[in-house]
Amino acid sequence: MAALEITVLVCLFLVVVLIAGFTLKNGIGPTPSCRRTTDTLDNRLPETIDGVILELGCGWGGIALYLARKYPENAVVAWENSPVPWLVAYLRKVLSGQDNLSVRYGDFRRASLDHCGLIYCYLCTGQMLRLRELLLPASVNQSCQLVSSTFSVPGWTPASEYPLGDWYGSRLWVYMLSHQPSSLNALSRFSSK
Ligand SMILES: C[S@@+](CC[C@H](N)C(=O)[O-])C[C@H]1O[C@@H](n2cnc3c(N)ncnc32)[C@H](O)[C@@H]1O
Repeated sequence: MAALEITVLVCLFLVVVLIAGFTLKNGIGPTPSCRRTTDTLDNRLPETIDGVILELGCGWGGIALYLARKYPENAVVAWENSPVPWLVAYLRKVLSGQDNLSVRYGDFRRASLDHCGLIYCYLCTGQMLRLRELLLPASVNQSCQLVSSTFSVPGWTPASEYPLGDWYGSRLWVYMLSHQPSSLNALSRFSSK
């Protein structure tokens, strides 16, 4: 086998190992949202948003680009901590020339929540528990909405929920952060169930 072929195979192997390693660490892999999600977002998201739009765990960057195009007047900040999807999302942002989008590398718990108007995520239950702790109502703009695909926030009451129309009965959950209990209240409500 030629040296080039071996190098390509080793690189592919490393890419797969990196993606698998971060999937295990995060409890969720970089599965992209499907077309039904963007269709539902298109119908359900508000016309305008006051403040920064955050995407927590942007994967390959499809939804981040969608949000940046839908809201050209807003800054969109997308976080991703898995290196391979982050690199792809970053390159897609650069090639798209979408200046209102930043793709940041790292854990979304480092994200600034200042002036945040909308948060979008598609994570897993473990990450939703971390997110809930991050979103103590006191630290976030009270008009901020959280839109979560597929996974709800344990102990929080959604303002609305929309079926995505897939076989699994997945939903889009919309939360008004101002209407949620403090994290400690939410934790006790959740654990008492
Ligand atoms: C199911 S994918 C969703 C991708 C994209 N948001 C979408 O809807 O198409 C979830 C992504 O969140 C990332 N992720 C999970 N936990 C994270 C964390 N704590 N910080 C940053 N990214 C995280 C994963 O690496 C993965 O790429």
